[in-house]
This record gives sequence, structure tokens and C-alpha cells, in this order.
Amino acid sequence: MKSSLRNNLVIALGILVSVVAIAQGISSYQLCRAGMSALLDLRLEQVAVRMHNGFASSIPATPERGSQPVRDIVITIHRPGAEVPLRSTDPALQLPEDAAAGFSSEDVNGEEWRIYTLRDPGTLIQVAQRSSVRNELERETAMTTLWPTLVLLPLVLGAVLLIVQRSLRKMNQLGNEVQDIDASHLKPLPVAGVPSELLPFVGSINRMIERLAQSMEAERKFIADAAHELRTPLTALQLQADNLQPHIVASNQERFKELRGGIARSGALISQLLRLARADAPVLSSTNEATDVAAIVVAAVSEVLPLAAARGIDIGAEEMSTDKVAAPGADVAVAVKNLVSNAVRYTPDGGTIDLCARTEGNVLWVEVRDTGPGIAPELLPRVFDRFFRANVDVEGTGLGLSIVKAITGKYGGEAVIRNRDDGQTGIVAAVSFPLAQAAGVAAATRARRVAEQQNGSHAQGTAASHQLHGRDA
Ligand SMILES: Nc1ncnc2c1ncn2[C@@H]1O[C@H](COP(=O)(O)OP(=O)(O)OP(=O)(O)O)[C@@H](O)[C@H]1O
Ligand SMILES: [Mg+2]
Repeated sequence: MKSSLRNNLVIALGILVSVVAIAQGISSYQLCRAGMSALLDLRLEQVAVRMHNGFASSIPATPERGSQPVRDIVITIHRPGAEVPLRSTDPALQLPEDAAAGFSSEDVNGEEWRIYTLRDPGTLIQVAQRSSVRNELERETAMTTLWPTLVLLPLVLGAVLLIVQRSLRKMNQLGNEVQDIDASHLKPLPVAGVPSELLPFVGSINRMIERLAQSMEAERKFIADAAHELRTPLTALQLQADNLQPHIVASNQERFKELRGGIARSGALISQLLRLARADAPVLSSTNEATDVAAIVVAAVSEVLPLAAARGIDIGAEEMSTDKVAAPGADVAVAVKNLVSNAVRYTPDGGTIDLCARTEGNVLWVEVRDTGPGIAPELLPRVFDRFFRANVDVEGTGLGLSIVKAITGKYGGEAVIRNRDDGQTGIVAAVSFPLAQAAGVAAATRARRVAEQQNGSHAQGTAASHQLHGRDA
């Protein structure tokens, strides 16, 4: 079983409470039985003393045999030397006349009896009761003392469970918050309401988060600075290569083209590194933008439309939600453009790319579906890794999807890549962003839609969808 503080505490306290309850039950049962036995003995003694004080005549001289109830006591009075008892409540019972004075337990007619014997020179008085009756009386009375324990034990165990759960609730909350910590969410844990025993622990975690955030920020800054520094000489190199091209002799043009290709690839890598550094930057608290995703999808498609058209790729949109998302437009655009550019890059000539923006609950999904070769299932889990390229035959830096993941993670969204499951080859790449709720944006959007419907005009999404559909054109 997994070691759990809650389970350990509940089990330990449960065992402790149960042991105490059992010990208390046993001791009160025994004490009650002993008390009851003493009371019954006292009754035998008192009856004997009363008989000695002259109450013997109250016993009938010839009582009916076997007329006495089983639970009743038996009284026998003897005169020394007489054959038969002077008085007896049950003449069929022959109590041993030689029994020791005081209390004794004797076997009479195959049954055990508790006898009180009062002896003086002129009389022998014996008062007896069946031990089985006494035991039954003692048990019945002692059992009644167990009821409170039996009723209280489950209640106390339930209370223990509740108290432990309540005490550990804060710890569970902290555990959940620690689980939510990742590279894009390095917020310190809240200390308000944390029990004092946990404060040092939470403090250590917060210091660790701070150090981690600092070192990640330093790394991000280094990458951003390095990329930025490299961009200027590379741009100069590019310009010089452009200027040089007319002077390169025809036989060297092919090699010179490769050189320019290399410069262009380095430029692309630096641009992606800069985007990644920007995507990794922490969210500013002032970020409160509501972004129109439909417009971004339109722009992303417009950008690749000439290339797609040249390669005979049919690119279109099916469904276009007009909801706005809570993320800066520039970042949403980078994420969407990366998915669209992947689809165009990896889809063979004559393929099809479908886009849609769909609201599901509190999030908006942008989905890009292509008819490319797809990705081997064993490589799928790695596509979001930095510099990972599943297909090395096609040029790329392997950073695009890492940027997408960093952006969606930063704003509480998701990025998902899967192979199509509708019988065609290809990828379904999707990103989600939470809908903009703040500042009544959602309400304003709804109000605007209602107004548009009332005016009979097309919703922006419909317009966007028409604009996008290469097939319609
Ligand atoms: N639509 C797609 N179809 C097939 N493979 C894809 C698709 N999108 C991504 N991949 C695979 O996933 C890998 C990672 O993609 P990612 O966008 O991160 O990098 P890239 O496209 O190689 O480079 P970059 O986008 O930085 O120029 C790609 O190299 C490619 O092999
Ligand atoms: Mg890419």
C-alpha cells in the first residue's frame, strides 16, 4: 500500500481509539459483574441475618415441592441433631450442612450453588442461589454497560477520520498547487492559512521556485540576447550575399545558392529561437487582452495562401467561432501560424488542409487538419521537444511546436498533435485558449452577435469562413 500520512494517522488513531474502547469495555464489564456479584452476596447474607432474627416462621412449614421459581433464592433452617430441616423453601434441595460458615460455592444435585451459611449453637441457616442464575444476572447487567462504548466507538472513529481529513486539507491543496507548477507556471505557493508546521516546508519550496524561476529567466534571456546579437551580423551577411550574387560566375552559382540557403536557415533558426525566448517569458500581470481568433486564422491562412495555391493545396475553413480568448493576439498568432505552416510544409502537393475554430465549454480550440504523411505513433510524444524533427528530409528547425506548447501553456491552454483517425493519413494539430471572461468581453461579444443577427448581417466567423475557403473561390 502507498505510504500516506492521512492513512497512517487514521489507522494509528483508529487502532488507539479501538484499543482504549476495548480495554474500557472489558474493565467496565468485569467491574459491573464483580459489583453485581457482591450485591447478590449481600442479599444472601441479609436474608440469612433476617432469618436468624426471627423471620424463619414466615417460611411455610410444608412448602410445595418444586413450587419455587428457578431464579429465586432457597432458604433452609436446621436444628442441630434433627434429621430434616426445620424450615426449607425447597425441601427437595439438600444443602450441605457441613458447608463452611460464610460464603461458599457447592455442587448440589449436579448444579453449582452459591451458599451463605450462618451457624450458631442452636441453628444452622443457609441461604443459596444457583450460580447459573447469578451468572446470567451478572452478565445481563454488565452487558448494559457496553452499549455506550459500542455506540460511541464508530462515532469517535468517524470523528477521527474527519479531523484528520480537515487537518490535512491544506496540505492536499498545497500538493495540488505544487503539481500545477511547471516551467510556464512558476508562482510561489500561497502561505495564507498554512499551518505553522508546514510553513518551513512551503517556504523552502517557494525559495526553490524562486531560484528555478531566476535560473530559467537567465537562460531565456541568454538565448534571447544571443539570438538578437546573431541577427545583426547574419542580416549583414545576407545583404552581402545578395550584393555578391551578380558577380558570382555561372559555374559557382549552385554552390553560392547553397551558401545563401545556409544563411537563410540560420536566419530562420535565430527567428524561431527569439520566438521561443519570447514564448517562454513569464506572463505579465497586466496582460488582459481579449483576442479575436477568427481574424488570426484568416491572417495565418492568407499568409500561406499563395504558397498553398502554387502547390495545389486546397486550404479552407469549416467552422469559425467568433468567441474571443484571454491571450495576447501576437502570441495566439504565432501559435496558429506555426500549425498552419507545418500543415503546408508537410502536406504533399495537391493535398487538403482544413481549419476550424470551435468553442468547447470555457475554451476555444483551433484545429488544423492536413492530408500529409502523419507522424509515426512512437515519435508523437516527442514532437513538442525542442529541436525534435520527426522528418529530417524536410527542412525545419524543430522549434515550432515547442513555441506552440510554451504559448498555450503560458495562457492556460493546451496543444495537441495526433494522427487522423478518419481513414485518411495526416495530422490533426490543435491548440486551445481559455475564453476571455474578464471585463465583460464575453457579454459584449454575445450582445454584438445578437445585434448582428437582428440586423440580418453575417457573423464575422461566417465571413471569415467564406474568405478562407480556397475551394469556394
Ligand atoms: N503537420 C505535420 N505533418 C507531419 N509531420 C509534422 C507536422 N507538424 C509537425 N510535424 C513533425 O514534427 C516535427 C516538429 O515540428 P516543429 O514545427 O516543432 O518543427 P519544424 O517544423 O521541423 O521546424 P520549425 O517549425 O521550427 O521551422 C517536424 O520536424 C515534423 O517532422
Ligand atoms: Mg514547424
